[in-house]
Amino acid sequence: MYRSIIRGIGSHLPQNRLTNADIEKMVDTSDAWITSRTGISERRIASPGEATSNFATEAAKKAMDQAGISAEDIEMVIVATETPDYLFPPVAVIVQHRLGLNKAGVMDIHATCAGFITALQTADQYIRSGMYQNILVIGADTLSRFTDYTDRSTCILFADGAGALVVSRSETEDIGIIHTATHANGEHVQSLLIPSGGSLDPFNPSKEQKTTMYMDGPKIFKLAVSVMSETAKEVLDKSGYSVDQVNFLIPHQANQRIIDAVAKNMDVPQEKVISNIKYVGNNSSATIPIAIDANMKAGKIKKGDTLLLVAFGAGLIWGGALIKI
Ligand code: UT7
Repeated sequence: MYRSIIRGIGSHLPQNRLTNADIEKMVDTSDAWITSRTGISERRIASPGEATSNFATEAAKKAMDQAGISAEDIEMVIVATETPDYLFPPVAVIVQHRLGLNKAGVMDIHATCAGFITALQTADQYIRSGMYQNILVIGADTLSRFTDYTDRSTCILFADGAGALVVSRSETEDIGIIHTATHANGEHVQSLLIPSGGSLDPFNPSKEQKTTMYMDGPKIFKLAVSVMSETAKEVLDKSGYSVDQVNFLIPHQANQRIIDAVAKNMDVPQEKVISNIKYVGNNSSATIPIAIDANMKAGKIKKGDTLLLVAFGAGLIWGGALIKI
């Protein structure tokens, strides 16, 4: 039986910083409100000319360097994103070309902020089945391009960036991806969406349209806490792990109060909860791999640690994974 291991990890954030002080100049808000209600102080935002593929490529390069893997050994590129450079083709084919991964197949996975977990699950299945040995899994998003900077309920949260993993085949049983779960409930489609610019209501400059996101924040907040807590418990149950055996809980970095509420529901003490939302914001599919990478570099997460990952996003779509890194 094959197991999937994390052979390399990397991340990339755009240079451009958008601070709470900058947002105070755009909408009626304050640093104190944003900090206390979200935990965010600043976010990284794409500069003109930058897009999701730029961040994805940079993160992937670092993950491949760390893995010590050559381009010809990557057999599949999976990019989780809800903000591709183009409606088509996918971001994965741009990354594949830029990195010279000529033997790799490609796909984008669009599962909103749960995209990274869904991509990890997909890669794990390819590896467990014996089909592939080395897969690049990337979570990358550029939400700033779909954020209305006159809407104070959304512009405080969202950000850009990418994180990437090289996921490889192993025959060692006690490391790597232990269990993954994904779920969805389309009843909540209208609670968080970009209403126009897709095939239902294509972009039309002569029409009044909303091509930035609409969000019912309080509704999404409650759903997020409940589905992430349930899924974290499900993943532990199905893996036969107790919460005490987990070194770190890493929830999708959507709002510090959501992170805290999930940790409380799970009885996970604060020192075992990973949060880097303060300086990074919510960059959707990228939050979890960026958080893992940053905390491994800082020496907080160590090789061999057991990590419980949980995410949710528009749809609603949600999922979790237990991994021994
Ligand atoms: O990747 C996942 C996607 N989304 C999420 O995870 C978002 C989940 N939701 C949230 O994070 C929170 O709901 C928000 C941060 C969006 C909003 O925080 P909240 O504590 O749920 O505030 P609220 O929407 O219940 O609004 C409370 C008050 C309202 O004023 P009134 O009606 O009580 O006078 C809002 O107008 O806060 C006001 N408000 C603000 N005030 C200052 C909303 N946004 C702001 C703001 N600055 N930026």
